[in-house]
Amino acid sequence: MLVSAAEMLKKAKAGHYAVGQFNINNLEWTKSVLLTAQELNSPVILGVSEGAGKYMTGFKTVATMVKAMDEELGITVPVALHLDHGTYEGCYKCIKAGFTSIMFDGSHYPIEENVAKTKELVAVSHNLGLSIEAEVGSIGGEEDGVVGAGECADPQECKAIADLGVDMLAAGIGNIHGKYPENWAGLSFETLDAVQKETGDMPLVLHGGTGIPEDMIKKAISLGVAKINVNTECQLSFQEATRKYIEAGKDQEGKGFDPRKLLAPGAEAIKATVKEKMELFGSVGKA
Ligand code: 13P
Repeated sequence: MLVSAAEMLKKAKAGHYAVGQFNINNLEWTKSVLLTAQELNSPVILGVSEGAGKYMTGFKTVATMVKAMDEELGITVPVALHLDHGTYEGCYKCIKAGFTSIMFDGSHYPIEENVAKTKELVAVSHNLGLSIEAEVGSIGGEEDGVVGAGECADPQECKAIADLGVDMLAAGIGNIHGKYPENWAGLSFETLDAVQKETGDMPLVLHGGTGIPEDMIKKAISLGVAKINVNTECQLSFQEATRKYIEAGKDQEGKGFDPRKLLAPGAEAIKATVKEKMELFGSVGKA
């Protein structure tokens, strides 16, 4: 069931668990995430970066595919189709294409401009029943061309953005997209605590979910994180399973070259990763 992310995140924040956002890249990814959410009776958010949207030939293709797949698979758990790290223009494209949720990443603008653009997009998206995420501070590393220095968010700036009525807020707390380096200092729980104190019951978003140790994930949830984004980890699971299949020569046995067979181990591996994360985040049975 395609819905905005507002309700599922309010419930998650109040219930002290987090909803996973799993980024999708193609049909297999989407199918694996939807089937796992349904099997575990968990709400879920499908994240689409602008790069992935372009790869899939455009946001309209993505929205049409997701809506049809949701229906044809008989998915009854709440599913939000969400733009990840959207530009101002990208947000409007996704609104038009039929997404149910957007993220406007104005973190690279001066705070006044981030506030002004976020404010406009809150009004537009709420008017149409979509949910909206905003960002303060920045997520380190690189994701589909979006590069961040990784500076921690200023809690006062978080309050200014939260007061605009966004449905979820991504605050940089030392998190990084992609794999964490050996010398990573860890999440800044002081920043997270200060942000939660300023923003009250606002569902907070933890980007860069790949590779964050379980105890840190649990602590982040206890300090108000209600949405956790995972992208790279599903890519690595898919890659590892596909590599095994080919290295075992299975693509050369019988009709092992058939894409439906060749991509099956990767698709199963994504399901296993999504299941593991949903269990860790506490969203199982919360649909
Ligand atoms: P990872 O690729 O590190 O899991 O980050 C995902 C993310 O934050 C999407 O916005």
